[in-house]
Amino acid sequence: MSAGRVYLETFGCQMNELDSELVSGALVSLGYRFVPGPDEADVVLYNTCSVREHAEQKVWSRLGELALRKKDDPGLVVGVLGCMAERDGTDLIRRMPVVDVLCGPGELDKLPSLVDNALRTRRSLMADAPDARPADGIDRRSARQVALQGNASRRTATLAAAEDSLEQLDLSRSTSPLDTPGRRSAYVRITRGCNKFCTYCVVPFTRGAEVHRPPDHIIDECRRLADAGVVEITLLGQTVNHYRFEHGAAVTVGGVTQPQKGRAFTGGHARDPLAGANVTTFADLLRRIHEEVPHLGRLRFVTSYPRDFGDDVLEVIRDHPRICRYLHVPAQSGSDRLLKAMNRGYTVGEYVEFIDRARAVLDQPEIGRPLTLSGDFIVGFPGETEDDFASTVALLRRARYKNAFIFKYSPRPGTVAFDRLEDDVPEDVKRRRNNHLLAVQTEVSDEISKEYLGRTVGVFVEGPSRKQRKAERAGRPAPGATGTIPLTIAGRDADRSPAAEGALEAGAADAEAGTIQWASRTDGDLIVFFDAPSPDTGRDLTGRLLRVEVTGASNLALFGTLSRDPAPV
Ligand code: SAH
Ligand code: SF4
Ligand code: F3S
Repeated sequence: MSAGRVYLETFGCQMNELDSELVSGALVSLGYRFVPGPDEADVVLYNTCSVREHAEQKVWSRLGELALRKKDDPGLVVGVLGCMAERDGTDLIRRMPVVDVLCGPGELDKLPSLVDNALRTRRSLMADAPDARPADGIDRRSARQVALQGNASRRTATLAAAEDSLEQLDLSRSTSPLDTPGRRSAYVRITRGCNKFCTYCVVPFTRGAEVHRPPDHIIDECRRLADAGVVEITLLGQTVNHYRFEHGAAVTVGGVTQPQKGRAFTGGHARDPLAGANVTTFADLLRRIHEEVPHLGRLRFVTSYPRDFGDDVLEVIRDHPRICRYLHVPAQSGSDRLLKAMNRGYTVGEYVEFIDRARAVLDQPEIGRPLTLSGDFIVGFPGETEDDFASTVALLRRARYKNAFIFKYSPRPGTVAFDRLEDDVPEDVKRRRNNHLLAVQTEVSDEISKEYLGRTVGVFVEGPSRKQRKAERAGRPAPGATGTIPLTIAGRDADRSPAAEGALEAGAADAEAGTIQWASRTDGDLIVFFDAPSPDTGRDLTGRLLRVEVTGASNLALFGTLSRDPAPV
């Protein structure tokens, strides 16, 4: 009996994309096969996000559709993984009895056995009563498999997450991302969870306490990926620059060093006094990866927390050419009063001091190494006045982000803001502020893009552009497609806007016969499209580091042609 056909759809952040890749690898190694659509699948899995209500609604509607299908196909196994599973817990099953498997992001190492159990139980129930429908008395609960962390991850304050079995999931990364055709970039987690407790945010509840992975595990993983042909690695953490591993406090279980509870150094941008001796700081980690994985083409990291960003990190980026000069540092608001209500732990002044300091060290367009920044903002947070909003607009202009992700405040049950602050900004005001901020950002992005006209930029080629892939899929389905494990061309909601798709479409339509549109990114994360011969001509550019002369610029992307100048990037 084959293990089963799986369809997996991923919502939410890069952390979820990585989790999906890791669990897919684990399932494939057990004999599961991935299919590109839910209709052909025996197991449908959604890896979910809870950060805003809208993210959850998409999953509710998918589950509603599956509930209808399951009436005719009672053998189907449905699983909800990720942050929504953890946040809603068994209430989710109560509301959607179609769900057989519930697995929080801290328990994903158990997913293969949960799926296996659910599938076996369903199959044996079906064998006993092949014509049965759920209503005919099959005990649907007996197939149900649940693994949630609850608040276990916060129970012990001192010990590392001893016997952190989740670490095994990252360590046993069983497929290289190269199993996804053409994939040459990968995510590597360095930190799990979050200790910040911003008042609006569910992540500390869904992902648990902050733990840092041992540096040797991270470096080994980077090396294995680079050995397998990965050119670009993005390190992941919710507050990635908080990474700090104290070797003296390391716990070993069965010969394996365990991840360690977060005890971030909070000395502002002064140097960590223990750095070098007994502690691997974030700066040390970046330096070690750069030095110990010399065949890695690019190293990047997201998401940075604006406070406590040490000069040591900025200097390591400046001094190591393969570390990208791109910082994603969400500000959330330009009003001190709101930053306080959000529990962000910094003032607008401190934020501006940080970006000025980062620019002073890293912004060197004259040697072809500009610094780019991107940010996140929440509009319509409880109590946000027109004055607060005006301060946010001013900060967005001042920071000169190359792009910004702008979200309307969404009250999340279980958070402090939900319990204590009334969601008092009306929806139409939220929408107006959202659109206004987007319009200002579009202006700024447009200006920044135009500065690149006529320049030659080094790019990492991610593959045929999304539009191009879509067109090809429509024409001839790719054999062995791995479901919806996403490529990393566009990581987040804002990248998937109809406007961005439109830009791609325009580009793709212009392509000459025999050439296709390729998508690439600069070291500063600017998207660059260029036309070049298609891989069918024997020249697959995916994963190459090339130079592109910029001939067109919009607020969303740059357009150009491959440079004939052979100088290294
Ligand atoms: N760890 C990252 C962000 C993770 S969540 C950081 O602190 O910067 C990604 C983004 O979602 C946040 O930056 C925030 O802008 C947005 N977000 C989180 N909770 C939200 C909520 N309840 N309503 C609206 N936006 C939210
Ligand atoms: Fe959420 Fe704040 Fe943690 Fe980011 S730092 S994940 S916004 S709690
Ligand atoms: Fe969403 Fe969880 Fe990521 S809530 S943003 S998937 S950490």
